[in-house]
Amino acid sequence: RDSWAEPYKIKMVELLKMTTAEQRKKALQEAGFNTFLLKSEDVYIDLLTDSGTNAMSDIQWSGMMLGDEAYAGSKNYYHLEDAVKDVYGYKYLVPTHQGRGAENILSQIMIKAGDIVPGNMYFTTTRLHQELAGGVFHDVIIDEAHDSESDFPFKGNVDLNKVEKLVQEYGAEKIAYICVAVTVNLAGGQPVSMENLKAVRKYTEEKGIKVMLDMTRIAENAYFIQQKEEGFRLKTIAEIVKEICSYTDGATFSGKKDALVNIGGFLALNDYDIFEEARNMVVVYEGLHTYGGLAGRDMEAMSIGIYESVQEEHMKARIGQVFYLGDKMREFGVPIVTPIGGHGIFVDAKQFLPHVSQDDFPAQTLAAEIYLDAGIRTMERGIVSAGRNSKGENYHPKLELVRFTIPRRVYTQAHMDVIAESTARVYERRNQIKGLKMIYEPKYLRFFQARFEKH
Ligand code: F0G
Repeated sequence: RDSWAEPYKIKMVELLKMTTAEQRKKALQEAGFNTFLLKSEDVYIDLLTDSGTNAMSDIQWSGMMLGDEAYAGSKNYYHLEDAVKDVYGYKYLVPTHQGRGAENILSQIMIKAGDIVPGNMYFTTTRLHQELAGGVFHDVIIDEAHDSESDFPFKGNVDLNKVEKLVQEYGAEKIAYICVAVTVNLAGGQPVSMENLKAVRKYTEEKGIKVMLDMTRIAENAYFIQQKEEGFRLKTIAEIVKEICSYTDGATFSGKKDALVNIGGFLALNDYDIFEEARNMVVVYEGLHTYGGLAGRDMEAMSIGIYESVQEEHMKARIGQVFYLGDKMREFGVPIVTPIGGHGIFVDAKQFLPHVSQDDFPAQTLAAEIYLDAGIRTMERGIVSAGRNSKGENYHPKLELVRFTIPRRVYTQAHMDVIAESTARVYERRNQIKGLKMIYEPKYLRFFQARFEKH
């Protein structure tokens, strides 16, 4: 592979704190073996998420000084509106404080009690908002996505046969919309192909069903299309991003990922009537429709970040760094989800700890052990994250993963080496690792605050 060297140099640094094994043991105990409950100060390399953890560019920082902090009609809102039209092609914009703010509004507008909401795998907040609005989520991702070893290049694809089955069973009018995510976070950052997006568009047009995009990591998906899908090698990421959006009716967006900011999001729409309702509702939950819970400076930084996200050299380095880490882990024999996805490495905890049953939380256990070794913070993406259905039964996802999420433009190649070596050390002593039991379970999105104890 050719060079993915960072296309930037470092102008300001934040010092990292090292901890001793003793300190980490104590911190983990206090956090109830949940990496979400660790204090950031006790973490050496933080791979909990790529959300809001990005380093902004000097140009974005200069945009922060240009915040027009007017309650209504801030000029930064108009800059954001221009960026959304220009880069994504959507007609109407409703800013929100982050992605889930947009998900809440979209779900409340589009979903009636008992409606079916098909999606290419779920995302935690997205599905919960759909359920709170009375919808019933159905997974319509292709089967390959649930197999951590399948090397199918577009494991995020929608299986239209599964959608057709739902239409047959419930009727097209019962389908609120199809929620398509690019890339698919919980499948391991797996992309959707353009061919699949086109097919979804064609099918839904015939049936009169709307397609709503979760475009949180769309530029990363575009990079995979450019690299792997026939006919896209000579297209720019910007062109591919726009084409993806053109096959959809609207989108929710968390600016905290692709758009290289620490906070922000939006709902984008092509349909004036839905927009009108959303603009009405945003006032209730987020703030006036020209700021949606954001400061003017946040909207400015996000508009600039949107343009930076579709730069070729940026995306090549961003995903190149993820690939570098994944290749290194594989050399050490660590079982990871393949193909490597866009925003991080997903270690297969079922294969790593085959002696720990899913009810003893293998991924939660492994994330805790990774922290103990060198202070690297990762995240469980398995049975704890999956939560319970509306009947109160635990979902049992096929994938039991630990996510090593890479913040954008934050860590260096040497950090990637440290991460791979630490994971390899834990792998060496995997047979001595025992599972956990849950001793506190919150009602919503339990993974954030649940507490555990050693068996
Ligand atoms: N959709 C996807 C695919 C996401 O990954 C996220 C957030 C959201 C929607 C919600 O956006 O956080 O701005 O409200 N994912 C973060 C993560 C939290 O760590 O994967 P948000």
